[in-house]
Amino acid sequence: MKPVKVGICGLGTVGGGTFNVLQRNAEEIARRAGRGIEVAQIAMRSPNPNCQITGTPITADVFEVATNPEIDIVIELIGGYTIARDLVLKAIDNGKHVVTANKALIAVHGNEIFAKAREKGVIVAFEAAVAGGIPVIKAIREGLSANRINWVAGIINGTGNFILTEMREKGRAFPDVLAEAQALGYAEADPTFDVEGIDAAHKLTILASIAFGIPLQFDKAYTEGITKLTTADVNYAEALGYRIKHLGVARSTANGIELRVHPTLIPSDRLIANVNGVMNAVMVNGDAAGSTLFYGAGAGMEPTASSVVADLVDVVRAMTSDPENRVPHLAFQPDSLSAHPILPIEACESAYYLRIQAKDHPGVLAQVASILSERGINIESIMQKEVEEQDGLVPMILLTHSVVEQRMNDAITALEALQDVVGNVVRIRVEQLS
Ligand code: HSE
Repeated sequence: MKPVKVGICGLGTVGGGTFNVLQRNAEEIARRAGRGIEVAQIAMRSPNPNCQITGTPITADVFEVATNPEIDIVIELIGGYTIARDLVLKAIDNGKHVVTANKALIAVHGNEIFAKAREKGVIVAFEAAVAGGIPVIKAIREGLSANRINWVAGIINGTGNFILTEMREKGRAFPDVLAEAQALGYAEADPTFDVEGIDAAHKLTILASIAFGIPLQFDKAYTEGITKLTTADVNYAEALGYRIKHLGVARSTANGIELRVHPTLIPSDRLIANVNGVMNAVMVNGDAAGSTLFYGAGAGMEPTASSVVADLVDVVRAMTSDPENRVPHLAFQPDSLSAHPILPIEACESAYYLRIQAKDHPGVLAQVASILSERGINIESIMQKEVEEQDGLVPMILLTHSVVEQRMNDAITALEALQDVVGNVVRIRVEQLS
C-alpha cells in the first residue's frame, strides 16, 4: 500500500522531534499503522540543526502544505492562535486530516475547528496538546469511557513544576530557573503563559471537555499563576505536611463544573505531590475506576513528538473508517454535549491555607477565630510562629475545612480590616485528592 503523506508545519522543538521519531522508528510505526508514513513536505522559517531533512521538499509558506494535493495529513506545530487557526481551517477545507500539539488553539478555537472537521468528515487529533508525552486524552476519551468522571486534577505545566521544584529543593531564584526552562525548550514562546497559569488553563479546558462532555470554555476558567508564591509559604506548607503544586482542577458538582488553575497545597504523601521537575501528572477520578494517575514528561522534544506520532498512527488507522463511527473529538457525541455551566470561582468550594501577618498584641488570635466562626468557617489547624525580627510581626498560619470561596472572600476582607492585621492575607487553596 502507498505510504500516507504528511506535511509538517513548524520544525522547532516539537516539529524537529516529530520528524526525527518518524525517521528513526519508521518501520515500527508502519507495522502499527498498516502503512508507511512519509514526510512529503516541511514548512519552516529556519533549519533545525537536529534534523537531517535532505531530500524533503521545503517551503516557507505553511498554507502551501494546507493546499498541497499530495498531502493527506497536516501536522500543525507552529503554535499561537491566529495563523495556526487559519492554517488548520484551510487544511480541513481542503479535506485534510490534522494533527496538532497546539493547546491554545484547541482550547480557544476548538469548538469551531471540530464543527468544521465534522462538516468535512476529517479528524483533528490533539493528544500532544495536553501533558506532552502522557497519552491522557486517549486514556480519558477511550480508556475511561465507562465512567461518570467526578474530577480531574493535574500538574499540567512542566515549566511551572520545574520552577517550583528547583525553588523548593535548591532555593534557586525564579528568573534563573525560568531561563533554564526556556533554554531546554520547555517554556512557551511567551513564558508568562507558563508562570501565570494560562498554558495550564488551556490544557485543563481540554481535559474538562473530554471528561464531562461539555463544549470548550477557556474564557470561563479561573487562572492564577505561581509568580506570587513565596519561600515562606512553601516552608510553612512543608511544616504542615503539605507540598505546594500548581494544579489544574476540574470538578463536576450538582450546581456546575469547577474549572480552576492555581497553586494548591496537597498532602505530601500523595503520589502527585511528589511529581517533580518538568514531569506532569494527571489524576482522574471516575465512579467505576476510582482514582487513576497518569505520569510522564509534560514537555520536551521527543516526549511531545511521541504523542504527535501516536495521533498520526490513529489517523492513518481511521482514515478509511466511516466518519460517523470514529472516536468523537470531545469524547461525547457532538449532539450530546451537556450545557452544565462552568461555576465562577466564588461558587467553587475548597479548603484553605491562610497566612496572616499580625501585630503581637493580646486577643488577635481570638478576633481571627471569631471572624472565621461567624462565617461558618471551620478551622482545622493553627500554627503561630514567633515574632519575626525584621518587622516585629507574628505570622499566623491556618488551615480551614472546605468552604465556598465567596464566604472565604468575605472573611479575608474582614481579617484585612482588623487593626492588628498588617498587609494582605495570603490565601492558597488546599486539595486532599482522596
Ligand atoms: N510550556 C509547556 C509546559 C510545554 O511547560 O508544560 C508543554 O505544553
